Amino acid sequence: MQRFCLPRDVYHGEGAIDALKSFKGKRAMVCVGGGSMKRFGFLDKIAANLKEAGMEVQLFEGIEPDPSVDTVMRGAKAMMDFQPDWIVAVGGGSPIDAAKAMWIKYEYPDITFEQMCVVFGIPELRHKAHFCAISSTSGTATEVTAFSIITDYQKGIKYPIADFQITPDVAIVDPALAETMPQKLVAHTGMDAITHGIEAYVSTAHCDYTDPLALHAIKMIQHDLVPSYNGDMAKRHSMHNAQCLAGMAFSNALLGIVHSMAHKTGAVFADYGAHIIHGAANAMYLPKVIAYNAKDPEALKRYGQIADFMELGGANDQEKVQLLIKHLRGMNDDLRIPHCIQHYGADSYPCEQGFVPESVFLERLPQIATNAIGDACTGSNPRQPNQEEMERLLKCCYYDTEVDF
Ligand SMILES: NC(=O)c1ccc[n+]([C@@H]2O[C@H](COP(=O)([O-])OP(=O)(O)OC[C@H]3O[C@@H](n4cnc5c(N)ncnc54)[C@H](O)[C@@H]3O)[C@@H](O)[C@H]2O)c1
Ligand SMILES: [Zn+2]
Repeated sequence: MQRFCLPRDVYHGEGAIDALKSFKGKRAMVCVGGGSMKRFGFLDKIAANLKEAGMEVQLFEGIEPDPSVDTVMRGAKAMMDFQPDWIVAVGGGSPIDAAKAMWIKYEYPDITFEQMCVVFGIPELRHKAHFCAISSTSGTATEVTAFSIITDYQKGIKYPIADFQITPDVAIVDPALAETMPQKLVAHTGMDAITHGIEAYVSTAHCDYTDPLALHAIKMIQHDLVPSYNGDMAKRHSMHNAQCLAGMAFSNALLGIVHSMAHKTGAVFADYGAHIIHGAANAMYLPKVIAYNAKDPEALKRYGQIADFMELGGANDQEKVQLLIKHLRGMNDDLRIPHCIQHYGADSYPCEQGFVPESVFLERLPQIATNAIGDACTGSNPRQPNQEEMERLLKCCYYDTEVDF
């Protein structure tokens, strides 16, 4: 038996945040990030809508990008004090993911972070509150997914929490919120979204329910991301939907080792002054992982199907895979994303010498590879890399060298 789980309601299109006016409840806690939602007036609008629905509203503000375990614990404490029956998380992946983890801790105050990270091990939620997610970036699709990514800064590792229990009850996909994204955020979140579509399509857990969502999302992103990056607001709106469709696919089909590697390299060089931003990491690693996975006959065939759906040409599957890789690398160029860690600057733009020194990368490589193999996303990848292969793959992602194994 397989389960296909989505929010009960997805409100989308212009004016979707007005759906909040019809919510039933007593107290709503609104969880939000660093200030962009406030600055552009969305936070006031959300609070006003919830008040119009007759609810008392409290804000939990200041959730940082790549949220920490500490933030989760603080937010859960605020929830225990306020006792909301609605949790409304608004922003990019970071505040929504943090709010999901706070929700677990609010419902089960004794649960530890380690217990939350047991894959599909979350006890039944919704005894205290329901959850609404309002996305402001076009990438993670956390508004419809069963995932939350929390960073343990002591270990420098991102941990995915994965369980259909944390799939939100309501998702609001209002394109107005995506209009204010700066260019770089459009680029990174958009490449995150296409990675979700491609990894979901070749995942060993894919099925007939997830395949059409993945393919359609990939095609939309192929056509809409670069124009959206260049300021076309109709395409920006379309991207907001496309990323959500990709999310519906991967929440049910799971992901692969592009994400395993991105999770384990994201914060591990923070002591050298920067993070490798999630979407940029995916954008750099995806072409390498496609080349690696394409050695598996079933994955090769499915990458060929993706290339066909994108109408990239190619006489056979090998050629189609090469054209797919070429197309994705071209998108990175159009979006000012480097091709490898060696050229990844602290500001995320391509540069001659990136912020991760070669010697530091090589020293940390064995541990990163071990951690990536152990990531929750590895199990559904079409090929299961051993330690040596994962180290080689990561080296290809550092130096931008051919994957020939
Ligand atoms: N839960 C999932 O299924 C899932 C999937 C992929 C990634 N993630 C995680 O999500 C996080 C990344 O989320 P993200 O990429 O959405 O970014 P984010 O939430 O970290 O936000 C990045 C920055 O953009 C700003 N911002 C957000 N929306 C804006 C807007 N509309 N206008 C202007 N500024 C805006 C924020 O204030 C913040 O400074 C990572 O921690 C990643 O690991 C989660
Ligand atoms: Zn992602």
